[in-house]
Amino acid sequence: MMNTFESEETVNNARDNSAAPLARPSPGAHHGRTQSSGAPLIRAREFSVFYGTKAAVDRVTLDIRAGEVTAIIGPSGCGKSTYLRARKMIGMVFQKPNPFPKSIFDNVAFGPRIHGLSERGTLAEIVERSLRRAALFDEVKDRLDHNALGLSGGQQQRLCIARAIAVDPKILLMDEPASALDPRSTTRIEDLIGELRGDYTIVIVTHNMQQAARVSDMTAFFYEGRLVEFDDTDRIFTKPRAKETEDYITGRFG
Ligand SMILES: Nc1ncnc2c1ncn2[C@@H]1O[C@H](COP(=O)(O)OP(=O)(O)O)[C@@H](O)[C@H]1O
Ligand SMILES: [Mg+2]
Repeated sequence: MMNTFESEETVNNARDNSAAPLARPSPGAHHGRTQSSGAPLIRAREFSVFYGTKAAVDRVTLDIRAGEVTAIIGPSGCGKSTYLRARKMIGMVFQKPNPFPKSIFDNVAFGPRIHGLSERGTLAEIVERSLRRAALFDEVKDRLDHNALGLSGGQQQRLCIARAIAVDPKILLMDEPASALDPRSTTRIEDLIGELRGDYTIVIVTHNMQQAARVSDMTAFFYEGRLVEFDDTDRIFTKPRAKETEDYITGRFG
C-alpha cells in the first residue's frame, strides 16, 4: 500500500496552507457548537492508495475541518473504507461493535493502559468520563466489572465509542457505525454524534443518505475511488454540482 497522505502536523508543502476557514452557518440548529471550528485538521492532497496497481483511492484532495462532522457516501467498493483507514492519530469505530471479551472497565481503560497509565484512580476517572461522553455511563455504572459481551448491540457500539475517545484522539472515524444496529440504537448513535460534535472532529462513512444529511456538516461523495464532490451537506443533498452525485442521491444507482 502506497500513499501520499499528510496530517496537519507533518504538512509543509500543501499548496494552500492558508486555506481560510469557510464561515458557514451551523447546519442543524439542534447541534450546539462548543469549540471553534473551521480550521483544517487533516488535509489530503492528490491522495491515492494502491492495492497492487489498482488505485482504490484515486487522487483525492479533501480537507477535514476541526470540530465538524464530515460524512463520506458512495456505492460499495468505491474506496470509502480504504480512505478512512489511511488516517493517523485516530480513534476508530467499526460497522460491527467489537468490544474485547473483557470487562466494561477494561475495554475503556485499554488504550490509556497501552499509553502507560496504571494508576487505578486516574484510570477510573478516564473510564467514567469516557462512558459519560458516550452516553453509556448511567446504564453500566453498577456493573463495570461485567463482561462487555453481555451488553446489547447498541450499548456495545457506544462502549466502542467510549473506548475510542478514552485516548483523546484528534479525530474519530466511524465506518458505518450504525448499519448493524436497530433503529432505536441507531438514533442513539446519531444523537451521540451530535453531542460529540464541536469537541471532536468526526468522519463517518454511511450508506444511509438520510443519516449523512442528519448528522454531518460536510459530505464527500466517493465513486470508483474518486472524490466526485465535497461540499456543505445541505448543498450536496439539495443542489449537487455533479450529475453523478445527483444520480446517486436520488437513488439511480448504488
Ligand atoms: N485489503 C485489500 N486488498 C486488495 N483490495 C482491496 C483491499 N481492501 C479493499 N480493496 C479493494 O479496494 C476497493 C475499495 O474498497 P473499500 O475501500 O473497502 O470500499 P468501500 O468502503 O467504499 O465499500 C474495492 O475494489 C476493494 O475490492
Ligand atoms: Mg466500507
